[in-house]
Amino acid sequence: MNSEYLYVHTIGCQMNVYDSEQIAMRLAALGYEQTASMAKADVIIINTCTVRAKAEQKVFSLLGRLERMKRDKKHLIIGVGGCVAQQEGEKILNRMPALDLVFGTQAIERLPRLIQQIKARRCRIVDVDMDAATQIPESLVARSNESQVSKFVTIMRGCDNHCTYCVVPFVRGREISRKPESIMREIQSLVQTGVREVTLLGQNVNSYGKNQNLYTFTELLSRINEIEGLSRIRFTTSHPKDLESDLILAFRNLDKLCPHIHLPVQSGSNRVLRRMNRQYTREQYLDKVNKLRDTCAQIAITSDIIVGFPGESQADFNQTLELVKTVEFDGLFAFQYSDRPRAPSVKLPDKLSEPVIRKRLQILLELQENFTRRKNMALVGSDQPVLTDGLSKKQASEPLAEMGPGLQWTGRTPTNKIVNFYVDGPDADSKNLTGKLVGVHIDRGFSHSLFGRVINTEPSVRGLKGVGNHAA
Ligand code: 5AD
Ligand code: SF4
Repeated sequence: MNSEYLYVHTIGCQMNVYDSEQIAMRLAALGYEQTASMAKADVIIINTCTVRAKAEQKVFSLLGRLERMKRDKKHLIIGVGGCVAQQEGEKILNRMPALDLVFGTQAIERLPRLIQQIKARRCRIVDVDMDAATQIPESLVARSNESQVSKFVTIMRGCDNHCTYCVVPFVRGREISRKPESIMREIQSLVQTGVREVTLLGQNVNSYGKNQNLYTFTELLSRINEIEGLSRIRFTTSHPKDLESDLILAFRNLDKLCPHIHLPVQSGSNRVLRRMNRQYTREQYLDKVNKLRDTCAQIAITSDIIVGFPGESQADFNQTLELVKTVEFDGLFAFQYSDRPRAPSVKLPDKLSEPVIRKRLQILLELQENFTRRKNMALVGSDQPVLTDGLSKKQASEPLAEMGPGLQWTGRTPTNKIVNFYVDGPDADSKNLTGKLVGVHIDRGFSHSLFGRVINTEPSVRGLKGVGNHAA
């Protein structure tokens, strides 16, 4: 067979992971088979991220490598998509002579046509048009042989908030929600291919449907909760200012909604929050955290924090540390502030020096690590419903013999903690647990994962929230 190969390299957030799948499926319709080998590819697409400076640097170092590759492989087509493409447009083409295509965040559905044009005429194309999009185009749904246990589903794109450090509104455009029927159709098809868990994606899912006469986000969740065969629903990301009581109550009322929320706080100082234009105070954030925990005691809360925002004083930073101690997050992503093109914070005075920012980041991460480990340790002795993703990658290279006999599996608790586990018994290794919800007794807790053994397969969905017998 004279098949041509496509290699897609994804940098950045879950939304890019979803977009990359859409890219692969659209190009499969042109006859491109996806490969995990960059060297084998006839078309290479880099799906890029520009939210922080580091992610953008990765793109340019990768492109440098590809330029060298193309010297020996003249027919190779190289395309750059996603947020850096949207932001830089033609400039990347000028900077990288080997590049054939730059396509923006809203050009994915036009990609097959663009590739065909390049192949036919060996022209170079820039498509970063954003105006045309008033609706999100229909997604393609993965075919059954590609089935995975857990999938991302984009429910909206763009963002209408203007946090001063953020480039997203410029590269992803105005907020548009996808029609509920389209989302439901996609999830139903995914479930038919064996998917058991979906993570709904949006920059600010709380404002789903706003100004478009659609369901609210909570109503959408209720409908998805009814889909037969689906076991778990997750979502990300929530903006604290828009987190209302109906969504908080959903954590109690919807049996498939996992008890985990990613609620980026960004800073613990009101002065910094104001300069970031976050539109909530530290007190309001803490109030939402309390309401979440009052409503759903076992809920896991994770967050994002930016360290070293322009003008962040030592006192401001101390306030962030205090907030982290008060909340005791289950996990935290902490980032060094970086200037992003067009983001309003670029113009703010009092930029902090790199060593100061780095030192603060280190202090924050060290503080959080204790809480993350403590939260994991607190689950030792409990039974957790774990949705199995598949065999644990670790055993292929180093069997953890002292941990337990036979095959090691991996999955997640409802609170999104990774659990590696084994099954006891004579026929243990012949069981395929991928996609199965199993009850796991947690024996050990580490900084980034838990370890346990299976006590029963397929616990009821009702037990999904993990309100199990807790020995600790
Ligand atoms: N500098 C550092 N971190 C940033 N983030 C967004 N913009 C910047 C920036 N300019 C972080 C925020 C956001 C996460 C996705 O990336 O914490 O929640
Ligand atoms: Fe950026 Fe703020 Fe929108 Fe998040 S809510 S994407 S941080 S502007």
